[in-house]
Amino acid sequence: MILVFGSLNADFFLSIPAFPAAGETVLTPSAVVKAGGKGANQAAAAAKAGGVVKMIGAVGADEVAKVPVTALKALGVDCSGMQTSDKATGMAMIMVDKTGENSIVVASGANADVKADAVSPALLNEDTVLVMQMETPWGENAKLLRRAKAGGAKTLLNVAPARQIPESDLRLVDYLVLNEGEADAVCAGLFGESVENAPEKAALIAGKTGGVCLITLGAKGVAVAQNGRTFAVPALPVEPVDTTGAGDAFTGIFAAMIDAGMDVGRAVRHAAAGAGLACLKMGAQDALPTLKEIEARVEEIQTV
Ligand code: RIB
Repeated sequence: MILVFGSLNADFFLSIPAFPAAGETVLTPSAVVKAGGKGANQAAAAAKAGGVVKMIGAVGADEVAKVPVTALKALGVDCSGMQTSDKATGMAMIMVDKTGENSIVVASGANADVKADAVSPALLNEDTVLVMQMETPWGENAKLLRRAKAGGAKTLLNVAPARQIPESDLRLVDYLVLNEGEADAVCAGLFGESVENAPEKAALIAGKTGGVCLITLGAKGVAVAQNGRTFAVPALPVEPVDTTGAGDAFTGIFAAMIDAGMDVGRAVRHAAAGAGLACLKMGAQDALPTLKEIEARVEEIQTV
């Protein structure tokens, strides 16, 4: 089972020809509201790829909560452990330009109130892959990480958005997923300095934490370090419509493949194929692929 402890948002998408400069106003015909939040996107990606998924997060007692929760339920994600906060459901304002690049501001709202103590110990055992991100308070993530590790669960942390994390906590993470900027933040915390290239960053981080380090590089693929070995996995060649949630698709699919018993190399290739396919429609969850769709493209991706 994949247990996602993390954020849920309603995403307000704004298509724009180019990002506005500071002080500039631009017009767009309309906004589109879609399900989002890094936690919810990862849960959706894992479920769509065939995983059995439970999502624990916090939403407000408002209508907006229905946007992310209804989408997860439609994919068969167990939302019975969802927590309710006095704060409004999280919201994200997402500008997408004509190249598919985005710029995001998240109003955390209820996500700041999620509590790790409410997670039943029965969920934290060797049959669980725990997946977390950084849109919920680190103190709660850290508490759950320790409990999960003590219970024998596998642990995956997506360090998004970027933040420095204590080395003692990073050592409890079996699979660390980061983009290059996030890897820089982790390297700064671990080594006090920047590191040149992605494979080197992955190798140094994995060497220090003891787990597997996966650095996602967008169109340049993924750098992976595991047990003293570093390898590269290329991206699926696509013309992106919207890259929002591509990292979430990667993370959720990777977790589902690990939960299904795949080795890291094959799981990364599946996740890279799925992340590419996830960029083909506007919205973080609208283009998430099924396992069959991933498998139809995975052979195009060969480890280097
Ligand atoms: O990673 C993409 C996600 O980041 C969006 O769905 C938005 O809600 C923000 O959390």
